[in-house]
Amino acid sequence: MEVTQAVFAGSSTRVEQRPKRKLPEFAFIGRSNVGKSSLINMLTGVKGLAKTSSTPGKTRLVNHFLINESWYLVDLPGYGYAKLSNTSRKELEDTINDYLDNSDELVLLFVLIDSRHDIQQNDLDFIATLGEDGIPFSIIYTKCDKRGPNVLKEQMERNAAKLLEQWEELPPVFATSSQNFSGREEVLNYIESILKSL
Ligand code: GTP
Ligand code: MG
Repeated sequence: MEVTQAVFAGSSTRVEQRPKRKLPEFAFIGRSNVGKSSLINMLTGVKGLAKTSSTPGKTRLVNHFLINESWYLVDLPGYGYAKLSNTSRKELEDTINDYLDNSDELVLLFVLIDSRHDIQQNDLDFIATLGEDGIPFSIIYTKCDKRGPNVLKEQMERNAAKLLEQWEELPPVFATSSQNFSGREEVLNYIESILKSL
């Protein structure tokens, strides 16, 4: 799929503030600093569309980006950033939960996992809640430029084994890098195939 147009369509913390125009949504979630906002810039090809930072906790709001006038990419705040105050952490959790609890337009949630580390307990816990809530998801490994192909493959296999302790089968998995654009076509084509099936 070609991204011919990508425009910021609004920020929100609550469902009533979301863009009025209802269209299919594909959202990105994962631990703080995993690379959600960078991935949105990489997929759209628009540098700086979503704000990124080397400091965790950058994205505080739900940000909608209108793609090709027909669907949204949604950038969510991260979970699991230990250094935030309790109040800030609770605010981010409320924002994430309000999005997920009121997700009629959400077609698929991409859960981002850092390819450099073992999948963390908070990722496993978060993914378990998706099963309970019946939210369809897919997994995207980020920062794959930081790993050689063999190490990356082993890491992904280790994580898959961990997830299979909890799940009977795994959803589609993608390896990406926002730095060298790897995985871009795969993710966009996957989104396109789902949009066509709606
Ligand atoms: P929060 O909004 O704080 O939850 O973070 P986020 O998940 O949106 O992460 P963000 O995109 O802001 O990126 C965090 C840091 O990781 C930045 O310093 C990025 O430059 C870096 N980063 C993101 N993706 C990649 C990647 O694919 N490769 C490399 N090498 N660095 C990346
Ligand atoms: Mg972000």
